[in-house]
Amino acid sequence: MTDSRLAIIVLAAGQGTRMKSSLPKLMHPLAGLPIISHVLATARALDAAHVITVLRHERERLAELVAFDLPESLLVDQDEVPGTGRAVQQAVDSLPADFDGDVLVISGDVPLLNAATLANFIEAHRERAEVAATVLSAFPTDVTGYGRIIRGDDGSFDRIVEHKDASDDERAVDEINAGVYVFGLSALRDQLASLTTDNVQGEKYLTDVIGLLRAAGSEVRAVPVADAWLVAGINDRAQLSDTAAKLNAVIVRGWQLAGVTVQDPATTWIDLKATLANDVTLLPGTQILGSTTVATGAIIGPDTTLLDCEIGEGATVKRTDGTLAVIGVGATVGPFAYLRPGTWLGADGKIGTFVETKNAVIGEGSKVPHLSYVGDATVGVHSNIGAGTIFANYDGVTKNPSVIGSHVRTGSHNVFVAPIRIGDGAYTGAGTVVRKDVQAGALAINVAPQRNMVGWVETNRPGTDAATAASQSGD
Ligand code: UD1
Ligand code: CA
Repeated sequence: MTDSRLAIIVLAAGQGTRMKSSLPKLMHPLAGLPIISHVLATARALDAAHVITVLRHERERLAELVAFDLPESLLVDQDEVPGTGRAVQQAVDSLPADFDGDVLVISGDVPLLNAATLANFIEAHRERAEVAATVLSAFPTDVTGYGRIIRGDDGSFDRIVEHKDASDDERAVDEINAGVYVFGLSALRDQLASLTTDNVQGEKYLTDVIGLLRAAGSEVRAVPVADAWLVAGINDRAQLSDTAAKLNAVIVRGWQLAGVTVQDPATTWIDLKATLANDVTLLPGTQILGSTTVATGAIIGPDTTLLDCEIGEGATVKRTDGTLAVIGVGATVGPFAYLRPGTWLGADGKIGTFVETKNAVIGEGSKVPHLSYVGDATVGVHSNIGAGTIFANYDGVTKNPSVIGSHVRTGSHNVFVAPIRIGDGAYTGAGTVVRKDVQAGALAINVAPQRNMVGWVETNRPGTDAATAASQSGD
């Protein structure tokens, strides 16, 4: 149910300079989704009366994401005055005049915070009507870069000092500001007007509102979060990989508890949108990415990457790289297969060792076991493609299709020069370059007859090891 007394402000206007990236910081992927998408999903789950996202840097690209993930959010453009305080000030100015509730401020770069933790936090704030603001704090192992919570002699919360502005004593404080706050609207509005840019970074700090509220005699509280990793902020790529590893550990554990065997959680990566059935086994070095789904009993890995793939019940996919591929029930893939988009393998089929497939529909029970390229092709059911076969789909101008029927047996080292059709039950000889369609049930061969020139080595290569071996041979 919509919380009519809650407005959420999502801060996403910062430049993200510490990322040193041409990709906007908040668009760097984390478990397969942009950083900001995690935050927008959390904001959405809280179902507030108003959501405002503040943008400036890379405005258009982020606006598109917000419109997709959180369409109910109002967008506010931050002006040239920098700082989290200015961002909140402009957002507050955009709230409807009749709104009079609590304002939750969250950061676009604090992605692991979940809706349940925030709901508890809002509740903690609302427990005492006289509290003007509540700050989420934490005790992480590495406090570098975070604002510190400064408490008075009696332990009560006094103010926040930014890392860059802090004295050595203040930097020694181990309680940090998570960058997440609930404010009573009127108290917030009053103090925002007094913010200055008088600090090391020349920004309007939202954190200064806390000190100002205290100076004005208001009560503020800092509520520590039990698990510091929930409020990890991402400013640089080291924090990005730390946060990704933590989130992955949580995701992997979740699947383990849901009945998935993960042999080596440290080398197994599962994106947030992937789904795995119970009794799936993931072997070391496996990445289940995007919207990949894996059905029960399938064994994936070791050393396998699957992006947006669909793996059927009981299938085995070993040492494989796959994108947008569908693998049937009981089928086997790999080791060392490369499945490109449009690969579809039927039940009990096989794509074997050193095989590359693209736009290839391979029917039930059909096999491409060794050293082949299958592109722009359809293979019927229960056919066997010989070792070392190439589907020559490209004539230098266009990609052409090949259609192989059912119960076909093709010899080793064939080239199918597309466009081509091979009828049901047909055979081809080893080494055939198939340039013409083959009728059902026919045998196609086009290799020249073999000629053995007896004695050629001893005559033309006298004195070589080959010639000696030949002369000593009993044949
Ligand atoms: C901020 C807090 C710090 C806290 C930390 C927690 C301030 C002044 N400091 O520091 O106390 O420990 O978060 O992670 O608030 N943003 C804007 N407009 C701006 C600047 C930033 O919208 O002008 C947004 C950013 O896009 C980001 C968030 O605000 O999502 C935080 O900004 P960032 O510059 O990362 O602040 P920190 O230095 O991490
Ligand atoms: Ca930050």
